[in-house]
Amino acid sequence: MSSAPPDTAARPDPGTPDGAAPDSILRVSGLEVVYRSVILAVRGVSLEVPEGSIVAVLGSNGAGKTSLLRAITGLLDVHHGEITKGTIAFAGKDITNADPAKIVRSGVAQVMEGRRVFTSLTVEENLRAGGYTVRSRSELREHEERVYELFPKLVERRSSIAGYLSGGEQQMLAIGRALMASPRLLLLDEPSLGLAPLIVKQISEIIAEVNRSGVSVVLVEQNATMALALADHGTVVENGRVVKDGTGEALRNDKDIQEFYLGTGEAGRRNFRDVKTYRRKKRWSA
Ligand SMILES: Nc1ncnc2c1ncn2[C@@H]1O[C@H](COP(=O)(O)OP(=O)(O)OP(=O)(O)O)[C@@H](O)[C@H]1O
Ligand SMILES: [Mg+2]
Repeated sequence: MSSAPPDTAARPDPGTPDGAAPDSILRVSGLEVVYRSVILAVRGVSLEVPEGSIVAVLGSNGAGKTSLLRAITGLLDVHHGEITKGTIAFAGKDITNADPAKIVRSGVAQVMEGRRVFTSLTVEENLRAGGYTVRSRSELREHEERVYELFPKLVERRSSIAGYLSGGEQQMLAIGRALMASPRLLLLDEPSLGLAPLIVKQISEIIAEVNRSGVSVVLVEQNATMALALADHGTVVENGRVVKDGTGEALRNDKDIQEFYLGTGEAGRRNFRDVKTYRRKKRWSA
């Protein structure tokens, strides 16, 4: 059901021919991910991220969203998973199965699910850790200043132990840490999870601002309201397959999306409650 033509996996990346459609910073073609040689988590997903855009990936529990991100950042083997089909190209270069550190150095940064910060390190130490691929000290300072500009809250908390920050502050730190590598593409795995609406709004504004500064974004979310308000384009994944694909506006107006994700359709109330129960469950298990 993906909108991408099925034969793109076999073709080499065409690069940037004159007069072509806007360049893709990321192109995932026919991706299949299998864990422990038997669990098929992603079944032929294709995803295109035009340079400078925000693409939302929506989908419920176990849909395969995190597996997709792990495949992009080369972190599947840590989880006993592997790419069994398909290709991933970043800025026109094939990065399928590339070394994770190389992928970061090439310009991809990820904020993992559950805002994993180093809880026993200070805010400042966390940020420095995020800049491990940056060699020049002056560049590192520049990135750090940029992060502090984006997150004035973190300035006050510079010397605080990250584990004592609020959930919202930890999410800001997790995003700030990813930005320390000065990525061209930022992958965010459910940044709104377990956060109060006001904090979700702040995080949304920051994502928009990061994007305005030229960083392309893949936003994995269960919170469709938040994600579709930001996204230029959205993809809905269920059971490892793309079941819907469209512009942010088209998906916001889509009946199924309204019912299953936004809770505003006729069957919305029932499904919305399911989503809320799930979110609550996840919050406690995080
Ligand atoms: N390390 C693993 N080993 C085995 N199976 C896994 C592993 N990680 C994920 N899976 C399975 O792969 C499928 C997709 O999981 P994934 O974590 O990618 O989904 P998700 O969309 O991110 O879900 P969630 O919203 O709960 O985070 C699920 O069936 C899950 O149980
Ligand atoms: Mg996930």
